[in-house]
Amino acid sequence: MVLQPQLKILISRDKIAKAVDRLAREISRDYQGRQPLLVGILKGSFVFMADLVRRLDLPLELDFIRLSSYGSARESSGRVRVVQGLQTRIKGRDVLVVEDIVDTGITVSFLLDYLMKKKPASLKLCALADKPSRRRVPAPIDYLGFAVPDKFVVGYGLDCDERLRNLPDIYVMED
Ligand code: IMP
Ligand code: MG
Repeated sequence: MVLQPQLKILISRDKIAKAVDRLAREISRDYQGRQPLLVGILKGSFVFMADLVRRLDLPLELDFIRLSSYGSARESSGRVRVVQGLQTRIKGRDVLVVEDIVDTGITVSFLLDYLMKKKPASLKLCALADKPSRRRVPAPIDYLGFAVPDKFVVGYGLDCDERLRNLPDIYVMED
């Protein structure tokens, strides 16, 4: 694949695979005997979700939700809304939200509040990546792949203006 010169590798596909294995072991252990509903946030979580669910040894179900947060390509605006809701009733279910990256925390904290109102039996968050230095609102991550520096990252589902989601590794995009 021809890469743009400003892309520098941050996390290789091997490291990602090991992290996904570890998360899958933790989640399979914690949800033993239950039938969780995994809720992926579109679009960024789709690659991570696809790899994660294939490693989970659980009778799970999955659904997706699409959110929008009007803003520029790299900055969340702080105003989130649901663009495409869930198809599944979550009342009484063990719900695990799957997100690509938590940055300011605004997106996931909005979603966790939104889902909590629907009275799930439990609600947890799994994120592939976290930029803790950028947090503006609390967003407790129950299962985390990687903490990343305060840089814009792309690949493995993460986009820059809808591009580069298909890169198999995670790259830092330098200006
Ligand atoms: P937050 O609401 O500021 O936490 O932003 C979370 C959303 O912004 C994620 O769902 C991503 O889609 C996007 N995002 C945040 N940081 C990055 C990044 O470094 N690369 C790609 N997308 C990002
Ligand atoms: Mg995005």
